Amino acid sequence: MLLKDQDRIFQNLYGHHDSGLVGARQRGAWDGTKAFIANGHDSIINEVKTSGLRGRGGAGFPTGLKWSFMPKKDPRPSYLVINADESEPGSCKDREIMRHDPHLLIEGALLASFAMRAHTCYIYIRGEFIRERERLQAAIDEAYAANLIGKNNIHDWDFDLFVHHGGGAYICGEETALLESLEGRKGQPRLKPPFPANVGLYGAPTTVNNVESIAVVPDIMRRGGTWFAGLGHPNNTGTKLFQISGHVERPCVVEEEMGIPLKQLIDDHCGGVRGGWDNLLAVIPGGSSMPLIPAELCDDLTLDFDSLTKLKSGLGTAAIIVMDKTTDPIKAIRRIAYFYRHESCGQCTPCREGTGWMWRVLQRMERGEAEHHEIDLLWDVTKQVEGHTICALGDAAAWPVQGLIRHYRHVIEERIDARKAAQANAAE
Ligand SMILES: Cc1cc2nc3c(=O)[nH]c(=O)nc-3n(C[C@H](O)[C@H](O)[C@H](O)COP(=O)(O)O)c2cc1C
Ligand code: SF4
Repeated sequence: MLLKDQDRIFQNLYGHHDSGLVGARQRGAWDGTKAFIANGHDSIINEVKTSGLRGRGGAGFPTGLKWSFMPKKDPRPSYLVINADESEPGSCKDREIMRHDPHLLIEGALLASFAMRAHTCYIYIRGEFIRERERLQAAIDEAYAANLIGKNNIHDWDFDLFVHHGGGAYICGEETALLESLEGRKGQPRLKPPFPANVGLYGAPTTVNNVESIAVVPDIMRRGGTWFAGLGHPNNTGTKLFQISGHVERPCVVEEEMGIPLKQLIDDHCGGVRGGWDNLLAVIPGGSSMPLIPAELCDDLTLDFDSLTKLKSGLGTAAIIVMDKTTDPIKAIRRIAYFYRHESCGQCTPCREGTGWMWRVLQRMERGEAEHHEIDLLWDVTKQVEGHTICALGDAAAWPVQGLIRHYRHVIEERIDARKAAQANAAE
């Protein structure tokens, strides 16, 4: 069953209605906010814990738990930083929130900041998102003008919200690189620990959250954590913005219940796979860093964190890239490998060298210019990169290649054999 309209959080996802304050209020934004704040910091954290919300930025870490790591008594200021970098290929949901429903994000920023005793919040927005930033800033200006935020606002919690425009580097979406960039330095990830909750922005306690994680908080407060927890599956609760691109009839961003079957999502919202379901080759279920899943595992596939982990892949940002049978899987993964090579910040040797190495080998494999034993060698290199780097970009580069070898080793072998046969024929 599809998500009922009454359970929809993002009621203006497609921008059919007013994204400004008047329209947002008509859809329920800023309703009851003062009472949630009057109930105290912990009541918000507890409600978010009850909801079971897991971070929507990729890793799926429980949001309420993350907030509870922030110190309650500390002489330093606390900060909330909202990650609007959205640069993972395939991901395109946060931009829709910012340009069409920005008040949900602003209200969520106030509630989350209050919960963590922060008076200042920064939204770090991807460099290419010019129009999104303008819309967001206009909504923030409206909120200041209406005294919803700012000093001495009607919610009795002084709160400043700043938008910071990034320079367009994918690595600045990694939370500690983002903090470096926000501080005015080169966006290179920091070693952890210390974690941002202890030493974050300007050396002070900081929580970094994804746009969607924050924008759903006002509705969790208004409708209750148990309402959110009642959607989806245990440990995989709530609604989720899915982004479907690639070989479907109508690519789209849609809010659905967590755990929706892949086939239903594609058939009901995207008009089906190009050429029909039987023409499906594979999907990348969570943005380009997640290992692909071949069609034979897709018939009964449900889209949530735990189901996809069982298949050695992941929900990531729920950006689903659909590939039909016209796709050359080696070429597709070679292209993704190029992206990670290009975006590696170069601090760690396994990532700096490994990403280029994987890309170059895949280039040869795409043409069949390789030996069978190199497939195991390539696998081995992915394992030397995975888990051996400062940040998860190394993993993100290794996993798609692992997915290719896990499911399409035979295609690589056939390509090598075909080339050898063609060479032998030519020599005769
Ligand atoms: C290379 C890299 C890029 C990332 N890019 C983003 C991004 O664009 N947006 C995002 O929210 N999280 C991104 N993340 C994840 C963040 O580091 C962080 O986990 C996330 O913002 C936490 O928010 P959440 O708990 O609400 O999911 C990225 C991680 C890595 C390793
Ligand atoms: S894993 Fe890659 S991107 Fe991350 S810090 Fe190391 S070199 Fe930089």
